[in-house]
Amino acid sequence: MARITVLGGTGYAGAAVVAEAARRGHEVRAASRRAPEADQRVAGVAYLTGSATDPVFLESVVAENDVVVSALSPRGPMLGQVRVVDAELISWADRLGFRLGAILGAGSLLTEPGGPRLADLPSFPDAAKGEALEMAEVLADLQASPVGVDWFAVSPASGFGAFAPGATLGHYRVGGDVVLTDESGNSHISAGDLALAILDEVERPAHRRQRFTVAY
Ligand SMILES: NC(=O)c1ccc[n+]([C@@H]2O[C@H](COP(=O)([O-])OP(=O)(O)OC[C@H]3O[C@@H](n4cnc5c(N)ncnc54)[C@H](OP(=O)(O)O)[C@@H]3O)[C@@H](O)[C@H]2O)c1
Repeated sequence: MARITVLGGTGYAGAAVVAEAARRGHEVRAASRRAPEADQRVAGVAYLTGSATDPVFLESVVAENDVVVSALSPRGPMLGQVRVVDAELISWADRLGFRLGAILGAGSLLTEPGGPRLADLPSFPDAAKGEALEMAEVLADLQASPVGVDWFAVSPASGFGAFAPGATLGHYRVGGDVVLTDESGNSHISAGDLALAILDEVERPAHRRQRFTVAY
């Protein structure tokens, strides 16, 4: 059993990671600005409330963990702030020795080996560009981190998101830096199946200091 804290653990991706970690019997904490309603809480999970941009709160959140997962999204007032918070998490991971996982976007994935990033394609939606480029910077920060920092990062399929929820099917494929598509050209993963992949990585590390992608 590991002690796992999910920053953004009440969001679309983070809540699924929290639920799957609790289902597997880990000691789980979810941190966010607002606690979920009582009927939305997962039994056994500790819900911590505060802002990740508050250094005192962040310090309390990172203490005494085996794994910290960042599932914050750079939207609204957090645009430009997630990179700052994740840089703090890198620094804490270096000092405290926990494993750091980050949920990134698909925009930093390549269309093909050596090809452009999805976020650099003319067809990439303007509305998602800021978020995609910020999470690409988080990936660059992780890659440039001191070698002692044990991190992994996950880019979900390009069709992943609260706008396209789906059932947990219990399977997924893993790729590297190139976006994964199915035989119809679709790239999708549900939050539940992304969470399976993340907990599998937590329990059996296969991507130390690497980014991987997950899709059907
Ligand atoms: N297809 C794609 O590439 C794709 C699609 C969707 C998401 N993503 C990525 O997946 C990751 C998670 O996205 P998501 O859609 O799951 O996000 P989300 O649903 O917006 O959840 C964000 C979480 O962070 C919390 N939060 C926000 N600001 C905070 C702060 N200052 N302090 C503490 N907690 C804070 C929110 O709760 P409170 O508001 O209560 O604080 C919530 O729990 C992001 O990196 C995003 O870019 C990628």
